[in-house]
Parts: sequence; C-alpha cells; structure tokens
Amino acid sequence: MKIAMNTGGGDAPGLNAVIRGVVLAASQKGWEVFGIKYGYQGLIDTKQIIRLTPEVVWDITNLGGTILGTASKGNPFKYLVRNSDGTVAETDISDKVVSNFKALNFDALIAIGGDGSLRIASEFMKKGIPIIGIPKTIDNDISATSVTFGFNTAVNTATEAIDRLHTTAKSHDRVMVVEVMGRNTGWIALHSGVSGSADVILIPEIPFDIEKVCNKIRQLELIGQNYAIVVVAEGAKPVGGDITIIEKRSDGVVRLGGIGKKVAEEIASRTGKETRDMVLGHLQRGGAPTTFDRLLSLRFGAAAVRFIAEGKFGTMVALHSSKIHAVPIDEAIGKMNTVPLDSDIILTARSLGISFGN
Ligand code: F6P
Repeated sequence: MKIAMNTGGGDAPGLNAVIRGVVLAASQKGWEVFGIKYGYQGLIDTKQIIRLTPEVVWDITNLGGTILGTASKGNPFKYLVRNSDGTVAETDISDKVVSNFKALNFDALIAIGGDGSLRIASEFMKKGIPIIGIPKTIDNDISATSVTFGFNTAVNTATEAIDRLHTTAKSHDRVMVVEVMGRNTGWIALHSGVSGSADVILIPEIPFDIEKVCNKIRQLELIGQNYAIVVVAEGAKPVGGDITIIEKRSDGVVRLGGIGKKVAEEIASRTGKETRDMVLGHLQRGGAPTTFDRLLSLRFGAAAVRFIAEGKFGTMVALHSSKIHAVPIDEAIGKMNTVPLDSDIILTARSLGISFGN
C-alpha cells in the first residue's frame, strides 16, 4: 500500500504526533507513506511531496506545528487563479488533484484537518479518492468525536495565562479582559475560565448583557474583591448583537477578533474601573502538545492505518468515551459541536458564582 497524508487548516498541537502514529503503524505493515505538503498544494504541484520513513518521524511526537506545513486557503474546488490581466478568478481544479493522486499510484489519503478540510475531503471521496479523515482543531468544534487533539494543549496554555493575569490584576485593582480562540464555540473559554478561576466567562452559546457583566464586577467590589478576570471567547456576542470580525476573506471565511477590547471599553466606561484587555491569540496553537494530546494524536494516527486496512473509507477517526470509532465524515461535518447549555461544566461554573453575563 502507498499512503498519502496531508494536514489542512490552522495547525494544532499534536499534528506531528498523528503523523508519527500513521508512519510507524503503516511501516509495521510494510506500507509506504508520503506527506503532501501544504494541504492539497502538494497534489497540485507534485514537487511538494515527501517520503515519510520512520527515521523522519522518530523525534516529532513532542513537536508543535506540522512538519508537512498547512494551508487555510487553497481549496482545490475554489482555487484562486491569477489571470494574465491581473484579475483573480475562482476555479475548480479538483480534477487535477484526483488525476495526480492516481498518477502517483496512491491507494489512500489520510486527511488531517478541521471542519473546512474535512468538507474538502468529503468532496474528494465522492470524486473517487479513498479517504480516512482525522479531526484536528484546538476549538473542539467538530461533532461526532467527543474531543479533538490540540484542544487540551490550548486550554492549558490559556489557563496558565489566566493564572498569571490574577496576580497583576490583584496588584493594580484592575479588571483584566482576556480574549481566547474558539471560533463560534466557547469550549476554550469555558474550560480555561473555570480552571483559571475567572469571574466572568463570555461564550458564543450564551449572548451576554454587558450591564450584567458590570454588575458582577460591582458585586465583587462589595465583598472586597477589587479586581476581576473576564474571559471572552472570540466568538462571543451581546444579546441581539453580532460577532466581531477582523477580516472577511474573498472565499467568505471570516477572521474573528476584537470582542475582548469592546468588552473592556464598556466595563471601563460603565464601572469606572481601570481595565486592560489582551488577546491570547496564536500562543494557544503553538508549542508542544500535552501528554493527553500526544496520546490522543498517536491513537488517531494508528487508528487511521487500521481503518485503511479494514477498508473503512469515507470515515473519520473519532473518540467516544475512551474508545476509538470510525464515523462517516459527512456526519462529522454536518453539525458544529457547541457547548451544551445544560453541561456539567456550565452548571459547575454557575455554582462557583461565575457570571456568563446573562
Ligand atoms: O480554528 C483554529 C483557530 O485558531 C481559531 O480558533 C481562530 O479563530 C482561527 O483558527 C485563526 O485563524 P488564523 O490562523 O488564520 O488567524
């Protein structure tokens, strides 16, 4: 067997561990593995394909990022091609990807990616490429798996940052507002906010009322806590309002960000408290994966090879209560995994007196 593998979308800690899991499991079977660089770019420009032997992946389990490189643009079904007159046109070059895949005699593709990459994988499956998907995202927003690798590391990084903000907030009697990633879900904000003893957590699933956020800060002052920590998911929005975006790309994808600053400005003007805001940003995606993410990634990689051996094409590797399963890719991309409002962590946060601004 000759296996191709790519990593698409934003990087997530654990990608290299997945790659190692795939390569070592495949080599045990005597199969060859090739890395397609930069998402599907390596199947458009086939010079960007590298042989992945066990020697190449020996020491990469703990390495952040992806040795294959990744791309959040370059969907072959909507590829942006620059015309001779300088204009840019969206073109479907998926047939070229399929013919290159076949010409290189690959037997299967392991597509490691988030929601967007798995949608592309699903389209290629329909065009005849045998695919196994592996879910990846720090946002934990993919349904059909109880967790994705990268999430645990991102939460750890955010929690540590929140811990550090406590001491400076307390020293200055300030409100510190920290914006964390998560796209349209509040998983990172919720898990890191509760673990980092935040006073207020704002998530997309619970639109907030800024006056209620300010009331919480005023109540804290009444009991002698003159500082506060507010964790804001980048996708949080006020009741009746919309998400805050930095940029809308030509392919329709939006970059979120800026809600933390808005919340901080409102808190300062309504409460008179000295307030600072910070955006944790890509720190949440960088660095070594935690033990949890390493193990999950190695398990996902090894499982993908098993699923190829069993012919389970069109499925995605998923974790369900400690067991690895194969679920249809189309099931996984059909629905976003949002924070359930009756989840135990929401209930715990409310019991601890944390405000969601509602
Ligand atoms: O999906 C992962 C993620 O880090 C989101 O949390 C965030 O909104 C987005 O990617 C940032 O994307 P980029 O790296 O393109 O700025």
